[in-house]
Amino acid sequence: MTESLVSDPKRFASLFRVAAPYLHAHRGRTFVLHVSGECVASDGFGAIAQDLAILSTLGIRLVLVHGARPQIHARLVQAGVNSEVHGARRVTTLEELRLVLEAVGAVRTQVESVLSMGAANTPMAGARLRVAGGNFVVAQPVGIIDGVDHGATGEVRRVDREGIVQQLDQGSVVLLSSVGFSLTGDVFNVSSVEVASAVARGLGADKLMFLGETEHVAHVETVLGHALPHEMTPEEALELSQALPAEASEVVSMLMCAAKVCDQGVPRVHLVDRQVDGSLLFELFTRDGMALMVSTDPFEGIRPATLEDVGPVLELLAPLAERGVLVRRPREILETEIGQFAVVERDRTILGCAALRWAEVDGVKVAEIYSVAVDPADRGAGRGSKLLAWAEQRAREGGAHRLFARSTQTLQWFRDHGFGRVTVEALPGSWVALADPERNSAVLAKDL
Ligand SMILES: CC(C)(COP(=O)(O)OP(=O)(O)OC[C@H]1O[C@@H](n2cnc3c(N)ncnc32)[C@H](O)[C@@H]1OP(=O)(O)O)[C@@H](O)C(=O)NCCC(=O)NCCS
Repeated sequence: MTESLVSDPKRFASLFRVAAPYLHAHRGRTFVLHVSGECVASDGFGAIAQDLAILSTLGIRLVLVHGARPQIHARLVQAGVNSEVHGARRVTTLEELRLVLEAVGAVRTQVESVLSMGAANTPMAGARLRVAGGNFVVAQPVGIIDGVDHGATGEVRRVDREGIVQQLDQGSVVLLSSVGFSLTGDVFNVSSVEVASAVARGLGADKLMFLGETEHVAHVETVLGHALPHEMTPEEALELSQALPAEASEVVSMLMCAAKVCDQGVPRVHLVDRQVDGSLLFELFTRDGMALMVSTDPFEGIRPATLEDVGPVLELLAPLAERGVLVRRPREILETEIGQFAVVERDRTILGCAALRWAEVDGVKVAEIYSVAVDPADRGAGRGSKLLAWAEQRAREGGAHRLFARSTQTLQWFRDHGFGRVTVEALPGSWVALADPERNSAVLAKDL
């Protein structure tokens, strides 16, 4: 794979161009990454550590929070301790706390050792990843709930933001675990997911990412018989979590946690499949990624075009006009017509456009959709259909009774969306006069 990429300059350059805006956008940003205990124990963790080293070298400020659930469970079983779980929390006796600290300490050492060689065997072998840790998480006891004393089970009270920022400023990766400390020197067993969420919130991080078990998601999708949406607003995530079946408890708690963290000011929360090699880099450096994402940003939407969009819209339309698929629109014309256009925008990139014009036939208002285009790299994901739906809605709202389209090569696509072929005489006379007879475009119409 690497061989073929490097020996094919065109392919390499196009991949690099896809990643470049993200290299730029992520530099100096703070990402909090949660790695599950299963992830640390897996064979794939070495590759993940290498990817973390790459992110750090690219100037991304990283806080890594590791879980240790299977390791704690194994240590308790080994010691013959049957620990009590009450509600969603484990009760931690002082004897159990000793075993928890042993297990968490061992995982932490393992993570540090793998991160120490993160860049070995890569061209970045000289780049040293410095890992910093400490008492950055202030915890307090959960206390007595429903009469049950939870002992050394704790919850996050606050995060030492300044201490963490100092380490990040020095270029270190900050490594945290599920252990928190009270102001009176007590040690608590805290949920690592809670730690990651609190740290992301406390730092005002740009992203919180869970590198975990997406087989739970795959299982829910099998039960539901359809895929879950890959991008959701916090409201949609909450709505979905309430609609999911009981067996989806892992996904439900992830969605609820993500919605809450987003509401508390972290713009994006991602659930990345740790079992796919390279999933972290793919998620961060491609436009669509592959994770489940809950985000407060409008990640993609259709909006009216402005004069600033003339350049990107020209770039979309020009190659199609060159190939005779669309009518050529010089910049001067586009500048005057830009108010009739809508664009699909994602991550400040224009992916598609369409325009709407109006006329009257025998006193009846009609509209025409034209210059419909989606960037070739982004086709097949429903963007064209959304542009068509936008045009239909606007035409309806504007009082049009019929929506026209003209096409040389996309007849079937319009037919698939409810348009039928009509004769050229059905068009308003002023539009017929404008048409290029050489193109001999087919005329299609949909009654609204
Ligand atoms: C037509 C176009 C806007 C569709 O954009 P898109 O984002 O891929 O659209 P959608 O994802 O909503 O639809 C994709 C579906 O349309 C089908 N489709 C795309 N172009 C088609 C065509 N010329 N004829 C028939 N079907 C077509 C795809 O095969 C796909 O089908 P599938 O869902 O069964 O796999 C895009 O292909 C494009 O920009 N084409 C060049 C410009 C053009 O022809 N514009 C229309 C004339 S104004």
